[in-house]
Amino acid sequence: MVWTSHPVTRLKGILRAPGDKSCSHRALIMGGIANGTSHFTGLLEGDDVLRTGAAMQALGATVTRTGHGQWEVTGTGARGLTSPAAALDFGNSGTGSRLMMGLMAGYALSAELCGDASLSARPMNRILTPLRQMGLTDTAEPHGRLPFRLTGTSALQAITYAPPQASAQIKSAVMLAGLNAHGTTIVEEAKPTRDHTERMLRGFGAEVGVTRGAGQARTISLLGGQELFAIEAAIPGDPSSAAFLIAAGLISPDGNVLVEGVMSNPTRSGFYDLVELMGARLGAEDTGDAAGERLIDIQSGSASLIGRKVPERLVPSMIDEFPILAVLAAFATGETRVTGAEELRVKETDRVKAVVDMLRANGVEAEEREDGFIVQGCGGPPPGGGLVETRHDHRIAMSALVMGTASQKPVSVDDVSMIDTSYPDFLAHMATLGANISEG
Ligand code: S3P
Repeated sequence: MVWTSHPVTRLKGILRAPGDKSCSHRALIMGGIANGTSHFTGLLEGDDVLRTGAAMQALGATVTRTGHGQWEVTGTGARGLTSPAAALDFGNSGTGSRLMMGLMAGYALSAELCGDASLSARPMNRILTPLRQMGLTDTAEPHGRLPFRLTGTSALQAITYAPPQASAQIKSAVMLAGLNAHGTTIVEEAKPTRDHTERMLRGFGAEVGVTRGAGQARTISLLGGQELFAIEAAIPGDPSSAAFLIAAGLISPDGNVLVEGVMSNPTRSGFYDLVELMGARLGAEDTGDAAGERLIDIQSGSASLIGRKVPERLVPSMIDEFPILAVLAAFATGETRVTGAEELRVKETDRVKAVVDMLRANGVEAEEREDGFIVQGCGGPPPGGGLVETRHDHRIAMSALVMGTASQKPVSVDDVSMIDTSYPDFLAHMATLGANISEG
């Protein structure tokens, strides 16, 4: 079903960021194996997260919704997960499926895993390779795509692993496996990725060692056999979802957008750092903390942006924000160049291609590179008028709709249903700001 975003002269309003997707997955997973009953507020109720909750329930935890964003999770305690009665369907969720593979590896259980067309095209060998070294067995074809069955073991062995890609999902899968492995599991990261697993494991009472090496390198260590204990936690707001609202404020001819309760974590802040490098001034006010993360309110208003070469050191901390960055680059003056971001090729879709096609369909000059893309900014509103193929990718859909709020002509997308995977309130939030987005 086609939806169209029509240009509007003004975007204004105050919104609360939806719960962070990464933290919501981890809360349900860790709560599900902890001793006792955890309570979470502000949990993201996107489809991806709900499927992780359903998977934990199928494995033996008790996962109950007690109100809007409020969830109660009674864990099985250590060693308590059991084989599910039916296949675990992770829908569109790379994070849910991959973290759960790591978790299940350390239990004597067997489970069939599947997902939608997008997830079934994504590489899983990056997760299976270290888990097999630890003792997991599976029925994956050599190309390592879902669906497949995996069989864990209570005799998992700790490993030292240096992921070839900068990926929090790989790190987290190995650490969750390490929780039930014999010995100390060590992950050596050349470039730091989001550290929510480390922080939340500590919140649940585990000891996690983190040491800094040369440059940006970090070594994370976790002794197997540690038990987790239930917590009460508010899930911080998602900086990746807030980025769409902040960008909408920046490109609007009369923009004034305040997003409250956004998690401020250096492993997630690359987009915000880059926007400032592009010449925008964001207001940021510290407002406390939630679940061991700092919270800030972020304010954006109409800005004249300047194209930039994106510093490669920022790439892992803004890996989900490249589609919306590409939109800002289209409005900017001059060229924006992205390199060192080959991971974009294996997201919900090939995001290098999807981003370039999105821009070209709307009259913006853009070029693919193996490890990134180049955008020639229009120095103001891009032409628009295109129909964007979303390819089951929520972030492509949201980026295109944000672009349409301030381009010369409306921008359409072929589908909006998958936005529910990460940001079910997106259309309602955009309407609150004054956007004109409608079916047809
Ligand atoms: C995530 C890690 C990132 C990110 C994804 C969420 C996580 O993936 O793109 O949206 O919660 O660990 P990679 O680990 O593949 O970079």
